[in-house]
Amino acid sequence: MNHFDLGPDGELACEGVPLRRIAEAVGTPVYVYSSATLERHYTVLRDALVAEGLRGEHGADPLIAFAVKANSNVAVLKTLARLGAGADTVSEGEIRRALAAGIPGERIVFSGVGKTAGEIAFALKAGVSEINVESEPEMHLASQVAQSLGTRATIAIRVNPDVSAGGHAKISTGKSDNKFGVSFSEAERLYAQAANNAGLRPVGVTCHIGSQITELAPLEAAFVKMRGLVGRLRAEGLSVERLDLGGGLGVPYFNQPTPASPADYARMIAKTMDGLDVAYSFEPGRMIAANAGVLLSTVQHIHERPEGRKFAVLDAAMNDLIRPAMYDAYHDIRPVKPRDASAVTYDVVGPICETGDTFTRDRDLPPLQAGDLVAFMSAGAYGAVMSSEYNSRLLVPEVLVKGDQFAVVRPRPTYEDMLAKEADAPWL
Ligand code: LLP
Repeated sequence: MNHFDLGPDGELACEGVPLRRIAEAVGTPVYVYSSATLERHYTVLRDALVAEGLRGEHGADPLIAFAVKANSNVAVLKTLARLGAGADTVSEGEIRRALAAGIPGERIVFSGVGKTAGEIAFALKAGVSEINVESEPEMHLASQVAQSLGTRATIAIRVNPDVSAGGHAKISTGKSDNKFGVSFSEAERLYAQAANNAGLRPVGVTCHIGSQITELAPLEAAFVKMRGLVGRLRAEGLSVERLDLGGGLGVPYFNQPTPASPADYARMIAKTMDGLDVAYSFEPGRMIAANAGVLLSTVQHIHERPEGRKFAVLDAAMNDLIRPAMYDAYHDIRPVKPRDASAVTYDVVGPICETGDTFTRDRDLPPLQAGDLVAFMSAGAYGAVMSSEYNSRLLVPEVLVKGDQFAVVRPRPTYEDMLAKEADAPWL
């Protein structure tokens, strides 16, 4: 459920704010996020996990470490932090964003396959809750860095459960030929090694098999294997306090299968783990943020070709929302004020100079005209975070709505700002 609905005037609004009002104040393209939707998604997941008895450390709620890669706007992170969310981070930049949002180090997890020594040192100084180690060389690097700082790195070993999942090959992470994590036998060996290493404190194991997973079966298959691993490690006398089950649960992108609900997900985990005594943590991104955001854009013109094709040319482009170009992703496109007339078939495109800048082909939409506002739905995750200045277009701004208020939480830069980021070479 989200809080983007037609208001009494027949126009699309975010909570109590008509999207037209935001377009007039900030211009388009612009991302708009709903606080109520972010809050709802977080609490529905937390309540489902708690209802199934899946606890965190010391009997507290499980750690829900929001995957910052999905939406790293500090105001969005703050909205979630106020509810108790932690952060799953994959770079020093993301750790800094989480800290800036007031998320304490002990609720920050540091994941990622290529952490540098500098980033590991930064994470240790920030007191992150754990470093999710993805390979043997990385584990040794974490140990060296920790020892040079006179401390021990708290680590979890990321296992690659060799399970196929995820909506698209580019976002599947859990097969043995993906770059992520180690095999079960390597995990056992590394865990035992870590337990005897002066720079490391292994506390648990973690997995993440992919993103936009709509069925529970692949997750369950991976989790059964993870439970087995915890049992084997403990049988060897090793202490396993934590189990991080990653993220990955999908969201309904309008034309796709309805994903499993958080309640079904929590029930499946409780059944699979069957009373296993560990502190649980999770790394959801998309299921919290995707349907909490839209990309608002203006139709520049309708370009009709003699053979009948109609291009709706927008002021948003692939540099603002790259998911259709990169993953053939489907985003519902809703006119802010839909005309009550029979649908017209459009190719919806941006102004960038390549054919890849096509959001969709042959989409039936209510008739559009130049100046109309349209909203790309489900764009709150992997939207603004993946934007760029390609074609020297200004970085897309972001707005956060709360009730009947809104705030610009990332302003649109000026062209002067854009140019000021570069420096001259002395010989030019
Ligand atoms: N934890 C780890 C270690 C991850 O690699 C990811 C996502 C997550 C958590 C969060 O997964 P989620 O709950 O959001 O599915 N840009 C792509 C998605 C890439 C996901 C990468 N990893 C897209 O736009 O579909």
